[in-house]
Amino acid sequence: MLKRIGLSKLYCLLFLILFKLYNVDANIAPYKNAVLLLGKNSLIFCAADDGGFEMRSYLNNICQTPNLDKLAKESLLFNNAYSSVSSCSPSRSSLLTGLPSHQNGMYGLHHGIHHFNSFKTVQSLPRILKRNNIRTGKKHVGPNSVYPFDFSQTEENNSILQVGRNITKIKLLVREFLSQNKTKPFFLYIAFHDPHRCGHTHPEYGNFCEKFGNGDIGMGTIPDWYPIYYQWEQVKVPYFVQNTEAARRDIAAQYTTISRLDQGVGLVLKELDDAGFKDNTLVIYTSDNGIPFPNGRTNLYEPGLAEPMMIRSPISNHRKNTVTHSLTSLLDIVPTLLDWFNIPYMDRFSFDANEVPPLTGKSLLPLLVQEPTENDTAVFASQTHHEVTMYYPMRAIRTKRFKLIHNINYKMPFPIDQDFYVSPTFQDILNRTKNKQHLPWYKTLESYYERPEWELYDLKYDPEEKNNIASKSSARKIFSDLQQRLLKWQEVTNDPWLCAPRGVLIETKSMICSPSSPPLLVPLIFHSSKVQTSRLKFEKRTRASCVGHLETSYVFFVSQVSVVLLMVIVNLLHLYQKNEAQQQTTKQHEQIRILKAA
Ligand SMILES: *[C@@H]1O[C@H](CO)[C@@H](O)[C@H](O)[C@H]1NC(C)=O
Ligand SMILES: *[C@@H]1O[C@H](CO)[C@@H](O)[C@H](O)[C@H]1NC(C)=O
Ligand SMILES: *[C@@H]1O[C@H](CO)[C@@H](O)[C@H](O)[C@H]1NC(C)=O
Ligand SMILES: *[C@@H]1O[C@H](CO)[C@@H](O)[C@H](O)[C@H]1NC(C)=O
Ligand SMILES: *[C@@H]1O[C@H](CO)[C@@H](O)[C@H](O)[C@H]1NC(C)=O
Repeated sequence: MLKRIGLSKLYCLLFLILFKLYNVDANIAPYKNAVLLLGKNSLIFCAADDGGFEMRSYLNNICQTPNLDKLAKESLLFNNAYSSVSSCSPSRSSLLTGLPSHQNGMYGLHHGIHHFNSFKTVQSLPRILKRNNIRTGKKHVGPNSVYPFDFSQTEENNSILQVGRNITKIKLLVREFLSQNKTKPFFLYIAFHDPHRCGHTHPEYGNFCEKFGNGDIGMGTIPDWYPIYYQWEQVKVPYFVQNTEAARRDIAAQYTTISRLDQGVGLVLKELDDAGFKDNTLVIYTSDNGIPFPNGRTNLYEPGLAEPMMIRSPISNHRKNTVTHSLTSLLDIVPTLLDWFNIPYMDRFSFDANEVPPLTGKSLLPLLVQEPTENDTAVFASQTHHEVTMYYPMRAIRTKRFKLIHNINYKMPFPIDQDFYVSPTFQDILNRTKNKQHLPWYKTLESYYERPEWELYDLKYDPEEKNNIASKSSARKIFSDLQQRLLKWQEVTNDPWLCAPRGVLIETKSMICSPSSPPLLVPLIFHSSKVQTSRLKFEKRTRASCVGHLETSYVFFVSQVSVVLLMVIVNLLHLYQKNEAQQQTTKQHEQIRILKAA
């Protein structure tokens, strides 16, 4: 059954995308910046899939990552890098477009039958590079017209394990690529699949595919890989994961694949050196979203958004073996690459400048020279779906000190994704909760599912985001400042969810909300009972193949008419007995709407 579910919902499948710059054609006058390309500025970009901070450079001295640590020494190491979304395809689409997922259209995972796609008019790195006479390849993000790569080795026509986890195979593909057209500048994008979970698709290889290619019977061999195994007693359990044997064993398996990823990075960098490109190649290493553990991937909490990142530049005055604390977003990658290649984001031939949304990110090249003076900078995040059923829109702003999260559909329980659901870590949380066993975790399952509309954390005193101060009167000013900035960003980035959950976007061009459209109570009752009928039928039909993770809360409620009414009453209470902060919030919403209407 796992296998069936897994194959129908394969995701996070971007592996190896190679593309090369053509010689600059003298006839393409507007691209005169491409002279720099002729200067063979080259770039390698490695992204780990669900990778985290499990390396010595980020103070984890159990997980062995000598190659990443060496790269970190030669790089500027980022201590405050954040993804703009905590889900694979959306994150990679925003990496390649510089636009948050709600703006580029990749609301959820690209793969599987529900494939989300970016909007047709969106500018992407491959598209821009192609306009500048670049030959490209594509994968994992779509549609093809938006991401027109033309040379690719990806999971679409290769085995996911071969192009994503077989580091020997990856090495050989990179070697093949680098041996071609040695006089042309290139952009090489390598997205490892390690350390993504694998228990839902290839359980025979272990929860993280940590046994794939380890030389045991039936596992095959990856000639370049020296597997490193970890004792579950020794792993470093992050504060956001429960400290139990089941979770520790899960982490130990994850470490093994991080060490494989690390060795893969070493092989790729060696290929680069051997081919003579080290001295003219910018190397960026980062990941797409947080690790697949509770509060990590699919969450906008720190473990879901914070990313490892390092940039190794061949330019002599660029900083190396240094740490930056500057707030950085993965939305900054596109501006950085365009800056590196000296290519404009828009040009006057291909697109109407009015149609192309401006980038909100910034080039990181200046940061490579000098640490900027901090100026109340902020990074933003926007999450809508992961899997198609996991509709849980959230928007967040994070400054150096504070984080504000808006859980737009906060009355729904937080959804759990499939590969995390079947993982030993989550099963352990479920089992212990159901059996009322001790759960050494900083949350309860219920508090994980049930989130308030607004969450505000003072990260200086509360880096683990345990103490929501959104309703504290002492935090009122910072709350409203952050809220205004968040709404402003949503407006600038054309967020269709700008007015949600209480308003309606009535004018999309100028982003105007309807001043008032609270949920109508009578239709709500009607709606609930209808939903209930269809749900009961659905449950009967599919009982055998569905697994529920909401044992503790809603399932019982919706199957009882009387309790449906009770929920309506609870809704009423919610509407009329809001705490101070929520009233404040509504007022501010109203003010903003009025301002806009005016
Ligand atoms: C996959 O497709 C690309 C073209 O889209 C091609 O260059 C590559 O050789 C193919 N790989 C395999 C293993 O068929
Ligand atoms: C290399 O250059 C040749 C000649 O310009 C071209 O035909 C070929 O397609 C190029 N190969 C790649 C991989 O760019
Ligand atoms: C990994 O790739 C190499 C080279 O293609 C191959 O020889 C080896 O069998 C592969 N390993 C596995 C486990 O598939
Ligand atoms: C701080 O940021 C604001 C707006 O982002 C900008 O107008 C101002 O010039 C910046 N100040 C400094 C000192 O960089
Ligand atoms: C959870 O409980 C189920 C059913 O009792 C059991 O099969 C499974 O091994 C348990 N998993 C963990 C991680 O505790």
